[in-house]
Amino acid sequence: MTHELAPAVGLPAPTAAEGQSPASSSSEGRDWWRDAVIYQVYVRSFADSDGDGIGDLRGATERLPHLAELGIDAVWLTPFYASPQADGGYDVADYRAVDPLFGDLADADDLVRTAHELGLRVIVDVVPNHTSDQHPWFLAALADPDPDGARRRYHFRPGRGAHGELPPNDWESVFGGPAWTRTPDGAWYLHLFAPEQPDLNWDNQEVHEEFDSVLRFWLDLGVDGFRIDVAHGMVKAAGMPDIGHGEQASLIGSQTLPFFDQDGVHEIHRGWRRLLDSYPGERIGVAEAWAPSAERLALYVRPDELHQAFNFQFLRCPWEPAAMRSVIDESLAATASVGAPTTWVLSNHDVVRHPTRYGGGAQGLRRARAAALLMLALPGSTYIYQGEELGLPEVTDLPSEVRQDPAFFRAAGQDGFRDGCRVPIPWTAKGPSYGFGEGGSWLPQPAEWGALSVAAQTGDPLSTLELYRSALALRRQLPGGPMRWLPGPDGLLVLARNGLVCTLNTTASVVELPTPGRLLISSDVMDQPGDTARIPADSCAWWAI
Ligand code: BGC
Repeated sequence: MTHELAPAVGLPAPTAAEGQSPASSSSEGRDWWRDAVIYQVYVRSFADSDGDGIGDLRGATERLPHLAELGIDAVWLTPFYASPQADGGYDVADYRAVDPLFGDLADADDLVRTAHELGLRVIVDVVPNHTSDQHPWFLAALADPDPDGARRRYHFRPGRGAHGELPPNDWESVFGGPAWTRTPDGAWYLHLFAPEQPDLNWDNQEVHEEFDSVLRFWLDLGVDGFRIDVAHGMVKAAGMPDIGHGEQASLIGSQTLPFFDQDGVHEIHRGWRRLLDSYPGERIGVAEAWAPSAERLALYVRPDELHQAFNFQFLRCPWEPAAMRSVIDESLAATASVGAPTTWVLSNHDVVRHPTRYGGGAQGLRRARAAALLMLALPGSTYIYQGEELGLPEVTDLPSEVRQDPAFFRAAGQDGFRDGCRVPIPWTAKGPSYGFGEGGSWLPQPAEWGALSVAAQTGDPLSTLELYRSALALRRQLPGGPMRWLPGPDGLLVLARNGLVCTLNTTASVVELPTPGRLLISSDVMDQPGDTARIPADSCAWWAI
């Protein structure tokens, strides 16, 4: 049966809740970040220049031309700072130094310069919620039991119980187990993550000053902005009250908790916005904030706060048309209410890769390709996680002895599989680590990944890499503007944006429609007999109207 699709032209203009300010058409001008496509480089798994099996800054620099060719606007580099690597570098011992594993400051400088020469901006991570337990501040705090001395930079408390043998409250670490660890002198310190990641005390002005200085250090080196780790966690509820229900805290959850999404964090972000604005060239801040709702998340991107906040509601949305549509509507409405763009993301280094989330195998890949086209058709900015342009699945069978994620070892199953999305990406069909480096790779790559490599997919018009390349090139040419939904048959999402119609078939069968326009790109082979378009199962297409 052929379903009728309402015409995309001549409809009333969308309300503010339906769309956003028109996208700027290039990454050159003002507001470049409003529709930027930003590629996440997980440094240790991207490219290894020295053959030690661990990706590094020089490796990333050498591969930047691939990213320029892919058609992105900016890269986000995960932490490469001096760190004992208790949590993949999210435990920083020196915020102004490059860990020798990843290179040195000259390599960072070279990466930023090379990226700029290629027309790419560079965003780096900043980790302000906690330091490493090897940071000089924490070492000083451990050495001096005076609660009014060096310990004031962290959260040290006496324990409960007759002998202080119980933690100060019932908070659980995101990685499992109590959020408190006892020092040899009997005091307890707070760590929302691993014990090697003590939480900083943001009531202490010295902490503010130190991070202002760290941001300036990297801005002076030329970076274009920061991804702010745990941007919702720096402020804890006054008095650190018990939660009461003894539930494991979850980074990706939507619970209301006394240590996440407290109103006080916004003052910190306002201060950083002023600092970012004091530099030329629109340097940005992007919040990694897991907030309970789209409205709470939008508070992080008010005009005087950060520029972007990852839309994890979209990432967590199941392959279900009504849910997808309402997440998109709610996100656009919430961010429009504060004049910010929505920032779409499907995968990152903390979650199971989306082809696997969407069911795995051929079906998961089909859906992942379709989801990418949907995401790239939406108004706002988009993040791409390295390897998603290759359609890489999660690696689900890593043996325990190679795993490094602290969550795997501490949590009872929750969030315990972050190594599977961090396996080094394949560049060539053959070779020691499929071109990742001259040596091996810190996590083993599946044998079939040679066929998914950049080299193997390049030039194959049906490959996921060429789909991303074409979609990104087309996206640059599209005029942008707000979106609206058009009616469609059950299971088909149809959205229109200034000259573009995007059709997403979420069902397991072909859906027939009168051809909506000129086919621009499709995630699956499209059959178009006469004036009919036969939209394949789990596929997405863009049409010019
Ligand atoms: C990062 C994680 C990290 C955690 C603690 C995050 O949300 O993305 O990889 O484990 O913060 O720093």
